[in-house]
Amino acid sequence: MNNNKKNEIIERIKTIKKELGNRLVILTHHYQRMDIVDLCDFKGDSFGLSQKAATDKNAEYIVFCGVHFMAESAAILAQEHQKVQIPDMGAGCWMADMADSYMVDNTWNEVTEIVGAENITPLVYMNSDAEIKAHCGRNGGAVCTSSNAPDAFKWAFGKREKIFFFPDEHLGRNTGNRLGIPPDEMIVWKHDKPLGGNTPETIKKAKVILWDGYCLVHTRFKVEHIEKMREKHPGAKIVVHPECTQEVVNIADATGSTSFIVKYVDSAPIGSTIIIGTEINLIKRLAAENPDKTIIPLFESLCPNMYKIDLTNLLAALENIGELNTVTIPERIKGDARLALDRMLEL
Ligand code: 13P
Ligand code: SF4
Repeated sequence: MNNNKKNEIIERIKTIKKELGNRLVILTHHYQRMDIVDLCDFKGDSFGLSQKAATDKNAEYIVFCGVHFMAESAAILAQEHQKVQIPDMGAGCWMADMADSYMVDNTWNEVTEIVGAENITPLVYMNSDAEIKAHCGRNGGAVCTSSNAPDAFKWAFGKREKIFFFPDEHLGRNTGNRLGIPPDEMIVWKHDKPLGGNTPETIKKAKVILWDGYCLVHTRFKVEHIEKMREKHPGAKIVVHPECTQEVVNIADATGSTSFIVKYVDSAPIGSTIIIGTEINLIKRLAAENPDKTIIPLFESLCPNMYKIDLTNLLAALENIGELNTVTIPERIKGDARLALDRMLEL
């Protein structure tokens, strides 16, 4: 798109925003392109965005620039009179697609037959569809995000002795490690194998059962990338997202959600060098916003789903406000999914 066209679209978006005033709020995840972030009313990690969706009771229209599970969570938390739209319905999440409700229900039945439903709490990562969140709500569980997973684990252990965590194996394991759970008490449930590739004995012994899902954007970061960067930039700090593997997380200087990474960079001393292992658009933005610091990607890894949102489809959503790409949740699951999200917000 040439610059004239781009400026024209930006001006049209600004005009619609002005016309709608408080009736519209544009929520944007940290991985969005810079020109989308520039036009939003609120940017954040998936926890901050869900909090905003739950508390902003004024706006009639919530336009969500992020991926589908995030817009879905906003639609679950929004008031009856609010409409949630996503500029591109095809902006999904590979990790969220790795667990569907049929597989999760079957696994839950197999596991609870062995350990008893009264002894295990389901915890679901925000990166999941509404059906799965509803499964958790129905079974006494909660949603968590990368910013509150340790608190969610503590909450769940306060209720029952075991956790069934899905779909991200790595966030689950990194959280378990952080809480000092021995590695042999965290087992992986390989969803295409009988009993997830485990025996009744290992399932009974496990404190945490991890679904075998992962993020293709974050599992691309390797120990070798960190070793090379340390050699090249000896004084640098390395911060990564907890969707990275435990090998990467264990040798980084810090780990946290996208908002944690933003704060980490903000609070670093002027002149410092920070190497970041997360989605490339956030890293590029942080580099542009912090010219007094050196911000380097650990490796360039882009989330093509986040990248599907652009100025053109954002304008189309605004020109068809309340009508185009509205995200709705079937009533059959909305209450239970809300229960699981509310338990997270209360943590
Ligand atoms: P945050 O909750 O840290 O923003 O992460 C969301 C996500 O999808 C990371 O890949
Ligand atoms: Fe999903 Fe990974 Fe993209 Fe996050 S970065 S939205 S987990 S595919």
